Amino acid sequence: MRLDRWVQGYGAYGRSSARRLIASGCVMVGGVVVRDGLADVGEFDEVRIDGDVVQSREAYYLMLNKPAGCVSATVDSEHETVMDLLDVPYAGELHIAGRLDKESTGLLLLTNDGRWSRLITEPAEAIPKRYLVTTEGDIGLEDVESFREGFYFAYEDVTTLPAELEILTSRCARVVIYEGKYHQIKRMFHAVGNRVTSLHREMVGGIRLDDGLGEGGYRVLTEAEVDFW
Ligand code: URA
Repeated sequence: MRLDRWVQGYGAYGRSSARRLIASGCVMVGGVVVRDGLADVGEFDEVRIDGDVVQSREAYYLMLNKPAGCVSATVDSEHETVMDLLDVPYAGELHIAGRLDKESTGLLLLTNDGRWSRLITEPAEAIPKRYLVTTEGDIGLEDVESFREGFYFAYEDVTTLPAELEILTSRCARVVIYEGKYHQIKRMFHAVGNRVTSLHREMVGGIRLDDGLGEGGYRVLTEAEVDFW
């Protein structure tokens, strides 16, 4: 958000008094005096006015190894949710950056940083998501081309972006998709006459599920993971 608008909103200042306050050097963002009202201020930047801290909020980023059977939601009246697995005081602030179906397992990202989660999930960003998939029937060599060409999903009236299918064994494959439509991978296999029997997310962008995390385990992301792109 623009600093002049932020100051206006914070202090119920008029536009010109907010600009005067900023120009006079009374406003610091991230420990630095900023005199340009057009400068950007993020929701996690520390802001001081006349030396007083008026915004100070920590950003949290977690990876969780989601077990099967628990729901990717913050609340659910019937089932255990991924939030029930977290024992951190800021759990109530978090949201999920890219859900997994109830029976899917693996890498789930949680944060209170809306800008970051939008980057992860925004189709235009085309962040790769890598999955290990097992299927009921044999995976055909011709499926590789079908995944690359994309599938038409009539319900949304869209064709999926080119996806990569790497066949590991007759009924096991790695799939990389660059978007996250409802039940996307299950529907892609359904479109080639097959059925997914297990789905495990291994990687999102540059963030790989930590081998050291057991089912239901979680940890804070490193700075390099948060800034992977
Ligand atoms: N595709 C699916 O079908 N399910 C998931 O959980 C993730 C991708």
